[in-house]
Amino acid sequence: MPESLSVTDNRTGRTYDLPIENGAVHATAFQQMKLDDEDDGLLLYDPAFLNTASCTSRITFIDGDRGILLYRGYPIEQLAEHSNFLETAYLLIHGELPNAAEYAAWEHELTIHTLVHENVKSFMDGFHHDAHPMGMLLSTVGALSTFYPDATKIYDEEQRRISIYRLIAKMPTLAAFAFRHSRGLPYNYPDNDLSYAGNFLSMMFKMVEPRYHAVPEIEHALDVLFILHADHEQNCSTNAMRAVGSSHPDPYSATAAAIAALYGPLHGGANEAVIRMIERIGSVDKIPEFVTGVKAGKERLMGFGHRVYKNYDPRAKVIKRMADQVLAVTGTSPLLDVARELETIALEDEYFVSRKLYPNVDFYSGFIYQALGIPVEMFPVLFAIPRTAGWLSQWEESLLDKEQKIARPRQVYLGAPSRDFVSMSEREVQRPKIVAAG
Ligand code: ACO
Repeated sequence: MPESLSVTDNRTGRTYDLPIENGAVHATAFQQMKLDDEDDGLLLYDPAFLNTASCTSRITFIDGDRGILLYRGYPIEQLAEHSNFLETAYLLIHGELPNAAEYAAWEHELTIHTLVHENVKSFMDGFHHDAHPMGMLLSTVGALSTFYPDATKIYDEEQRRISIYRLIAKMPTLAAFAFRHSRGLPYNYPDNDLSYAGNFLSMMFKMVEPRYHAVPEIEHALDVLFILHADHEQNCSTNAMRAVGSSHPDPYSATAAAIAALYGPLHGGANEAVIRMIERIGSVDKIPEFVTGVKAGKERLMGFGHRVYKNYDPRAKVIKRMADQVLAVTGTSPLLDVARELETIALEDEYFVSRKLYPNVDFYSGFIYQALGIPVEMFPVLFAIPRTAGWLSQWEESLLDKEQKIARPRQVYLGAPSRDFVSMSEREVQRPKIVAAG
């Protein structure tokens, strides 16, 4: 069977044969379809990238219909069970699981780069006491670029390596500093004898004791959550990382942009929105009224639905199991019962079934964070920490991809045609109006 697509342009009657490569057609192949020499050629219109691949990638694979997620070919369930976050981060960045020597060197590099410059503390101190920690994180990550001017040498492999170490290592430090600042507590320095998750919990929660040791089940649960959130193909924040990275700034600036994209309630802010929604519902008997409101379009059931998964999100399955394990240690939450019941009702309701809306990664993750004593406004920050590994692997892949250029989408212009400027005295009085796109 020929791997090509025949397209007839009914405006001209001409037929074109477009090669199909890896299940895709090059959008630029449509440029040759013109009415005349003046015509720029046919554009492909795809707001929100619903069916457009912006890159080739060898990092993460998702089969949304079957609920499959692979990092570099390894199923997420197996990584969650057998790996740890640092090993998974190595896998994402390098493409293969490390051997013992490679892992030891990787762990060493990520451990020695956990400290931030002392000036970062004064920077942090400048924020208002109730500043959102995600805002603090994205600003301080952006500010890191000013501390490491050599990071702009993005085609120097050594510089890329050290930026990757620094970003993955310092993210928990900055995240914990943001939390401590909002509580008016002194900053805790990293403890390099602890695990990645254990050190983060220590920087968050250590008070006057000489050393903080997290409850092992909690440390493990956080590490698994980090694995589950480490990458997710071309999601909104990864797309931001690649798009901003395509103009070749340093990776700290590109990561700050990715954090900004993750901040929104439709992306990394969803787990915060889930908890607020469940708190608002309050009790199991209020669920039917809430679901009726969702079906009437009043609001969305947060933590449900996904652009890619049209089946149960495989990460949500692991997280749901883990929520039970963590709450067995920390004590149960009545809100979790409301969430479970809401899930059961939604999964049997025709509205959600027909739209293939299932719980996504955010539906249960917030309950684990809450059980760990982490306030809701820190939830997206907890997402940003591990996703940094994914962002950086995607950023490096994009930089080394010979087919990539500066990301610059096209548009379909629907505005005013060319017209002459009219002086102010001759303009008719008109109420200013905003014309929505589309
Ligand atoms: N609650 C109620 N209805 C929903 C929901 C939801 N959570 N999600 C989608 N729908 C409905 C839409 O109203 C639409 O219905 P219609 O066809 O009658 O108009 C249909 O399902 C398709 O929805 P879209 O908005 O086209 O789906 P899209 O792929 O653009 O959106 C998204 C995906 C943003 C995740 C959406 O499902 C949503 O808003 N979910 C809630 C927020 C959330 O949980 N985000 C976290 C995503 S995972 C992550 O980022 C880590």
